Amino acid sequence: MCGIVGYIGNKKACPILIAGLTRLEYRGYDSAGVSTIEKNGLSLMKTKGRVKNLNDLKGIDKLEGTIGIAHTRWATHGKPSNENSHPHQDNSKTFSVVHNGIIENYAELKNLLEEKGYHFYSQTDTEVIPNLIHYYFLKDKEDNSTMKFLKAVRNACLDLKGSFAIEVISSYFPDNMIVVRKDSPLVIGTCENEKYISSDIPAILSYTRDFYLLNNLEFTILSKNSAKFFDTELNEIKKKLDVIEWNSSAAEKDGYDDFMLKEIYEQPSAVRETIGSRISNDLKCEIEELKFSKKQLQEITKIYIVACGTAMHAGLSGKNTIEKICRIPTEVDIASEFRYRDPIIDKNTLCIFISQSGETADTIAALKLAKSKGATTLAISNVIGSSITREADYSIYTHAGPEIAVASTKAYTSQVALINIIAIYFAEILQSTKSEYLNFLKQELLSLPKKIEETLKCKDQIFEFAKKVYQEKDMFFLGRGVDETVAKEGSLKLKEISYIHSESYAAGELKHGPIALIENGITVVGIMTDENLVEKTVSNIQEVITRGAKTLIITNQKINYNNFNEVIIIPEIAPFISPILSVIPLQLLSYFISKEKGLDVDKPRNLAKSVTVE
Ligand code: AGP
Ligand code: GLU
Repeated sequence: MCGIVGYIGNKKACPILIAGLTRLEYRGYDSAGVSTIEKNGLSLMKTKGRVKNLNDLKGIDKLEGTIGIAHTRWATHGKPSNENSHPHQDNSKTFSVVHNGIIENYAELKNLLEEKGYHFYSQTDTEVIPNLIHYYFLKDKEDNSTMKFLKAVRNACLDLKGSFAIEVISSYFPDNMIVVRKDSPLVIGTCENEKYISSDIPAILSYTRDFYLLNNLEFTILSKNSAKFFDTELNEIKKKLDVIEWNSSAAEKDGYDDFMLKEIYEQPSAVRETIGSRISNDLKCEIEELKFSKKQLQEITKIYIVACGTAMHAGLSGKNTIEKICRIPTEVDIASEFRYRDPIIDKNTLCIFISQSGETADTIAALKLAKSKGATTLAISNVIGSSITREADYSIYTHAGPEIAVASTKAYTSQVALINIIAIYFAEILQSTKSEYLNFLKQELLSLPKKIEETLKCKDQIFEFAKKVYQEKDMFFLGRGVDETVAKEGSLKLKEISYIHSESYAAGELKHGPIALIENGITVVGIMTDENLVEKTVSNIQEVITRGAKTLIITNQKINYNNFNEVIIIPEIAPFISPILSVIPLQLLSYFISKEKGLDVDKPRNLAKSVTVE
């Protein structure tokens, strides 16, 4: 995970690097560091803890270098400590390296280097990289040149197994930086006489909209006014510039206390943008990125939706719609399970991968597996040019704008909207559902932005409820059908940012065991948005009330509210897309509980925004 930033230009690098790291802190935040090229060689400043601790390091304000690299870490190998923080240097302190990812064969490489006389000061896997570069650099008897530098980095990278995005600077080459990635993200922003490098686009969006999106193993030599790209044979390759349309204020808090709250409030526009012209006012459904014929769709015998965490929960609600209106058997799987369970896939299988970041290692690996078995692959991502979109046969974007808070909110609601649009698009081609019903669903989708705004009005009610329950140790989330998928998402949100243990269950399953855990005073959240299931769920909630539970109900159904402690009424909506509304009170609940507990909402402990390790 971790965040990487780099800068080459005419300005002092250090303040730019620290500002970039601060924006990337959601990717990892257990330690941070910078290295710049100074007149007397490479500087190296690093510390355990948050990025802001860097400002307290003696001498950091004296750094003058206009080239530098920086890192905010999410430790995989070696506990968070000053020594294990990045950047790392080789024994001669000629090369500084920051790394995002995991070097799987680091132990073997470390042994080889130790045999050659290198010694190691950290427990990280990363430290082998600068030493390998140094080793290959010395081995090459040619005169020093940037190509010799590049060759040493290339040779080192070809020895590495695993995933990496690295930036390398050297005291021998005061005007250059080399960057390369394999299965970890890295982008290069460019403007006149300046290059900005970052793990994610939003961190450097305030400087430029012109980006080079690197593919795996494209070795790049940067100077302040050039970017040259090479393949693994070191033949120069041409790359096109991508212009990113995101607004830079999208990556700022804009007066909100936290990114999470801002992103919750951005949901009307995130969903509106995601629907965009895919459903027109005259109810035509077109997805520019998809060109499926009826024959092609008829040949699909099975759909897998594969993702992790919240994205997987969006997939669960997608399964519900696809099966009902397209009549294609659909299975949802967690990417880290899917890839190791030998799934039954052939050329008639469609595999849909959902990932906000598009960089989740497990999801990428699952996608590669599906492709190797001949499936048609479709990626849903929020990040233009992200890894899954480059691997998949088809890619469709949610247009939620950058999501910075670790806890996903607007990406989820946009994903649910998009997967429903895909289901409608398929059903229309397949003629598997009456067009009147599909038109009704389209109208319901178009009504969402307004209804999300209405739903957000529950904020104060949820705030009051959160004040009553924030000290609890356990909670339950119950629902049936599509409401169960929202229960799962509500429970994940609560765990993630308020550190309260919670369970989500299909409401009818509770009596088969977990009801034993219901005791006096426990909070149970019930979600009921489907008129066909509401009575059944009410009975299940009644069972927990009888056993002493206090209840928070999220519903748009006509029920007798007197039985419950708190009822949040949300607008009526077709059950397929009700998660987009019913999840909002749950997002706010976990948000306010986290705030009441005084926790860091945007950067919960042990987590990072994009999980680029397995
Ligand atoms: C969401 O709140 C979580 N932080 C997490 O479950 C996330 O959804 C998951 O890691 C998948 O990320 P992705 O969508 O970027 O692939
Ligand atoms: N594996 C490296 C480490 O533990 C990099 C981790 C990261 O991506 O932050 O230091």
